[in-house]
Amino acid sequence: MYKAFFGLISNPFNLSPDPAFLYRSPHHEEALANLIYGVQSRKGFILLTGEVGTGKTTMLECLRDHLDSHQIPFAFIFNSRLTSDQFFEMIAYDLDLPCTRTSKTEVLIALNTMLLERANQNKTTVLIVDEGQNLEWDVLEEIRLLGNLENRRGKLLQIIISGQPELDVKLEQDEYRQLRQRIALRCRLRPFTEFETAEYIATRLARSGMRDQRVFPPNVLARIHAGTHGIPRLINSVCDNLLLTSFAMESHVATVEMYEEVARDLRLDRNPVG
Ligand SMILES: Nc1ncnc2c1ncn2[C@@H]1O[C@H](COP(=O)(O)OP(=O)(O)O)[C@@H](O)[C@H]1O
Ligand SMILES: [Mg+2]
Repeated sequence: MYKAFFGLISNPFNLSPDPAFLYRSPHHEEALANLIYGVQSRKGFILLTGEVGTGKTTMLECLRDHLDSHQIPFAFIFNSRLTSDQFFEMIAYDLDLPCTRTSKTEVLIALNTMLLERANQNKTTVLIVDEGQNLEWDVLEEIRLLGNLENRRGKLLQIIISGQPELDVKLEQDEYRQLRQRIALRCRLRPFTEFETAEYIATRLARSGMRDQRVFPPNVLARIHAGTHGIPRLINSVCDNLLLTSFAMESHVATVEMYEEVARDLRLDRNPVG
């Protein structure tokens, strides 16, 4: 709506986890490096946690691009409210296993065959699970058992589980100790610092065609950071609304007054601190 007014070629603050807009904060950079390193070195289990909106799914999308470009097959489970039968069905579908997808036994046999064949060729296979905090115990247990498959050179299946901090709490419980002990790498995404929030906003605007952004002056950037606590998803909502308000007022610069109105509309004060 406001694109032409600001001379933008795309919407800078979309809420989709699009790697094309990736801003590499030190935490995001480290998390992505860990995910790739963990997969390459066959670490087995990798855990990625972070508050809602800190960029977990975006990191997984970046990893997905990496795997695609290296022709590494993966299953991506993003709907974590599923039964263990549905879980195996999705794995069979994603990995294109030659079997009756609704029979868990058949899926397991086909998966095992595929993993062993690939491992013998020194190739790896990946399972990515998003929204892991919602997984039921029995599905997590199936995941743990899949993580046990190994040959003498390492794990056959690299498993990445991503989730909100509740996942960490869940795994602390006694019934999850076997899974907890198998986690080889942990990464945690943190909200941005004030400096990173400003860089993040500038990066997204630059990717949409606006170099050297002047829409958000330093005092507005400071308020955006304070109001969003540096959480990317909230920053996107605020900035999108601010661009819209500025456009409506035919101003090329956002003001603190505009910020206050947007923050009220979005009820920013009700969001928990990340
Ligand atoms: N490092 C980043 N670079 C660019 N955009 C990001 C980054 N981290 C988060 N975002 C953006 O923030 C929003 C929320 O990110 P998302 O990955 O969906 O968070 P989560 O899965 O942790 O809830 C998305 O619009 C995403 O594009
Ligand atoms: Mg997500």
